[in-house]
Amino acid sequence: MPSSYAAAMVGQRFELKGRVAVVTGAGSGIGRATAELLAEAGATVTCADRDGDAVRRTADAIGAVAVELDVTDRAAVDALVAGAVEQFGRLDVMANIAGIVDWSPLLEMTDDHLDRLLSINFRGVLHGCQAAGRVMVAQGSGSIVNMSSAAIDHPGHGLGAYAISKAAVAQLTRSLAVEVASANVRVNAVLPGWILTEMTQARFTRPDGTVDEALRDKLLDAGRKSSPLGRVGTPEDIAAAVLYLASDASTFVTGQLLRANGGADMPW
Ligand SMILES: NC(=O)c1ccc[n+]([C@@H]2O[C@H](COP(=O)([O-])OP(=O)(O)OC[C@H]3O[C@@H](n4cnc5c(N)ncnc54)[C@H](O)[C@@H]3O)[C@@H](O)[C@H]2O)c1
Repeated sequence: MPSSYAAAMVGQRFELKGRVAVVTGAGSGIGRATAELLAEAGATVTCADRDGDAVRRTADAIGAVAVELDVTDRAAVDALVAGAVEQFGRLDVMANIAGIVDWSPLLEMTDDHLDRLLSINFRGVLHGCQAAGRVMVAQGSGSIVNMSSAAIDHPGHGLGAYAISKAAVAQLTRSLAVEVASANVRVNAVLPGWILTEMTQARFTRPDGTVDEALRDKLLDAGRKSSPLGRVGTPEDIAAAVLYLASDASTFVTGQLLRANGGADMPW
């Protein structure tokens, strides 16, 4: 293959010019970095988050549309997708990234607590998959990318219910991939390892907003040691994995769980 042809292919495969994308959780961390990267790749992006100020900041910075919503609200997610289709005429990428972490030991988990976690982390992703999936099946193309977690590979103290919610996302991804494949719609998930974001920073931030530096160093050290690459991940590392799955670089990839974790799941 001539190298100029190959070079053109590299650009085209990752390019999202003319594509329409919706990103939930775009107000912070991985969702924000993903919205930025998809926009940089040329997509017209709609950013959604329950934190209105944060999502407007992201959207303003990249010339995107901002929508304040809670992903547990099915009607709001339906309206989010319908709004993008109405405004931009199609939907090519749905990145279901909004989520929360929870550190309750399973023996102490209450029903209310569990309902909240599953509503956001699982049902919120299901709402996005359903709303986007219906549009994409009718359209005959599209890519859905869900955010699962490396927590499904490593049972961890206090992360049991969180891991269960993310395992449900992984299974949803694989099952839906089978259901919509004949319509040329792909569904994949990213399983991030230890990523430094507002979510993980909250673990070493005191209620008054100050940082517990000793705890930060301990947690970051443990995060680095959990991966053969010897570092924690960045939101940009994960956004790049989402771009791959969202773009034509991955046209033959569906139902996959992409472990963007520095190799942490290996028995090394
Ligand atoms: N940071 C990590 O180490 C890590 C590792 C594995 C998986 N993940 C997953 O990646 C995703 C993003 O995590 P992050 O680290 O960027 O977290 P983050 O807290 O920085 O960002 C999450 C965003 O989701 C939004 N959100 C939360 N609940 C919502 C709801 N009900 N409706 C709408 N928006 C809501 C928040 O307002 C926030 O802007 C989450 O699903 C998380 O579980 C994170």
